[in-house]
Amino acid sequence: MDGKPIQPSDEGADPSHADMARTDSPDPEEDSDSDGEASIKSTRSCSWQNLGGTMENGRRYCDGTYFMPNDEPELTRLNIVHQIYLMMLDGRLTTAPLTMEEPRILDVGTGPGDWAIEMSAEYPRASVIASDIGVFDSGLGHLSLPNVDFQLADAQSEWTYHEPFDLVHMRGLSGAFQDWHAIYRQAFTHLKPGGYLEVADADPAGDTMTNPDADESYIRIFAAAMRSAAESAGYPRDLLHLQTSALSAAGFVDVRVLERFIPIGLWPDDLHEKSLGKMALIAALEGLEAFALRPLTRSGCWSLDAARDLCEKVKGEFLTADRITARVRVVTGRKPVSYSQRREEVLARAMRKVRMYDGPAESESEPKSNSD
Ligand SMILES: C[S@@+](CC[C@H](N)C(=O)[O-])C[C@H]1O[C@@H](n2cnc3c(N)ncnc32)[C@H](O)[C@@H]1O
Repeated sequence: MDGKPIQPSDEGADPSHADMARTDSPDPEEDSDSDGEASIKSTRSCSWQNLGGTMENGRRYCDGTYFMPNDEPELTRLNIVHQIYLMMLDGRLTTAPLTMEEPRILDVGTGPGDWAIEMSAEYPRASVIASDIGVFDSGLGHLSLPNVDFQLADAQSEWTYHEPFDLVHMRGLSGAFQDWHAIYRQAFTHLKPGGYLEVADADPAGDTMTNPDADESYIRIFAAAMRSAAESAGYPRDLLHLQTSALSAAGFVDVRVLERFIPIGLWPDDLHEKSLGKMALIAALEGLEAFALRPLTRSGCWSLDAARDLCEKVKGEFLTADRITARVRVVTGRKPVSYSQRREEVLARAMRKVRMYDGPAESESEPKSNSD
């Protein structure tokens, strides 16, 4: 990518595609530079029309594969989870440093788009692409905003964006992908050198939830059932993709982790923690069936009634047990900058310093008089 101009974007040139079929033909211009990095010159862009859902166990799903519904209750749960992340990050939307004037941001699996839309407001000069395999009927994605482009795209297919990004964000996507390494490699390819990948997740299978009141709790049974259902489905529903080694293996450097065990319930004394715990409790109560119904009933080991009964028992435990917590992790990694780019940056910094000693540049100094 050294010094090679990035191609102008033609995103939005043809936004009329109505379904998720790949609409762009293989790009004959796509090539590799001497560093082996692909130039990024194509994308697909879709509108929200003609998107049917599929009903199962009284919930609506965007397709036949992804394990979580995309109906009204799930929309509400995701709105609450968004607020939990904001509380956890002291109001920040991202832990990645975004210092450029006009950052290009990609939110993969954007869901209702709360994060993407708030980022677009916080960085009004940013271009935000919010992509997902499905659409929430009443989500904010239906708003027309100048710097957010909602697109339908399956992140497990080849990414075909025209221009690289400064930040690729993924949140709440545990269980969405079969192969996280492949996803991270694509994020790496589609980031600018120096750009950041940020991945955040809570634990959708209950693996890290603790209930100190009971050795054999329903939470444990739930977690074990979810784990084995995930194994048989081939979509891991754990937090292994948030290990620093997962990002390093894809080429990212400066990998940093922010981890918190957040309370579930009203048990904390501290007021901030109590309201965090209250929001987490509501999200957990709302989320249990959303997490569990499709995986458990499809695993062949659970009938719908038995799955619902387990969820009810876990709910009861959430409401009565003390000191339940869940792990939340936010991991960031940076795409390394090439040698020549780093050299240019160092040189530019040195030149700025030199100019400081030269005093104001000619154009900034007093205008010369033309009178003589
Ligand atoms: C639990 S939601 C999280 C939504 C959002 N990131 C947030 O934090 O509010 C997961 C989202 O990932 C989307 N998703 C699942 N599989 C996907 C895929 N293969 N490509 C793109 N999006 C996907 C789902 O449609 C859903 O909207």
